[in-house]
Amino acid sequence: MDDLISIRDLKREDVELILNTADEMEIALRSGKINTEMRGRVLANLFFEPSTRTRFSFETAMLKLGGSVIGFDDPKITSIEKGETLSDTIKTVEKYCDLIVIRHPKEGAPRLAASVSSKPVINAGDGSNQHPTQALLDLYAIKKLKGKIKNLNIALLGDLRHARVMKSLIYCLAMFDANLILISPMGLEIEKEMVQEVKEKFNNEIFQTNDIYAGLRMADVLYVCRLQKERFSDPYEAKKLENAYKVTPDLLKQAKDDLIILHSLPRLGELDRRIDDTKHAKYFDQIQFGVPVRMAIIHQMMR
Ligand code: CP
Repeated sequence: MDDLISIRDLKREDVELILNTADEMEIALRSGKINTEMRGRVLANLFFEPSTRTRFSFETAMLKLGGSVIGFDDPKITSIEKGETLSDTIKTVEKYCDLIVIRHPKEGAPRLAASVSSKPVINAGDGSNQHPTQALLDLYAIKKLKGKIKNLNIALLGDLRHARVMKSLIYCLAMFDANLILISPMGLEIEKEMVQEVKEKFNNEIFQTNDIYAGLRMADVLYVCRLQKERFSDPYEAKKLENAYKVTPDLLKQAKDDLIILHSLPRLGELDRRIDDTKHAKYFDQIQFGVPVRMAIIHQMMR
């Protein structure tokens, strides 16, 4: 794997290799016997948008593997503020590092970075387009928490139009034969073309609804995302949809007893805090898989 830009670029065997390597990394983390194979190597974390989980878990993953990390705390202090292009920035940073991780508000920015970099590039989220490493860690989390992916009814709930993780996840889950239920308020549905592409490529049935109750009843996994306010061109439109969906204890009375709830986080109001203490809530357990999965990705890309 030269770069990791879109989940579409991966074959099933590539994903399986990452998940199996993540298993090995988890065992190594638990035993404390980690192969510090990245000693002397440098990862550049270029985050042009805010992040807590993705940035720190990439940093932790690289440090655990014995490598070092460079990056900036605020993109406004890079020379892009003086008018330098992203291409020139990448052509510069690649001279200082062995691997580039980039998050950018513009869709396609990581692909552009990869096209000018001689070092591997990982997409840590670009606009509303893709977030492939989050989808890989989510796939791993579901496998760990439910024991399988195949034939599970997995409901994706929320702002499916703008959430990049959902664009990566729908593809990944279909690749592993999950039954997909897409639940979103009117106007926030995932693009028709994407649903069609996934159906044709993986021969999957995909159930789409605007009714959260109808979608939830069948689900083994409920994966929720927040309203992506920052992706709306009209903030008034985002404001109108602020309370359009919410997972509440009352709603969960309709759910299967062994339903698990995941969320890529950060969350806003779409998860009632009262469900945090229920057996269904697994979103804070999900986070722990970020480090072994990103260690596995770094390992595979630096071979
Ligand atoms: N899940 C995720 O991408 O979180 P951050 O924005 O905190 O990186």
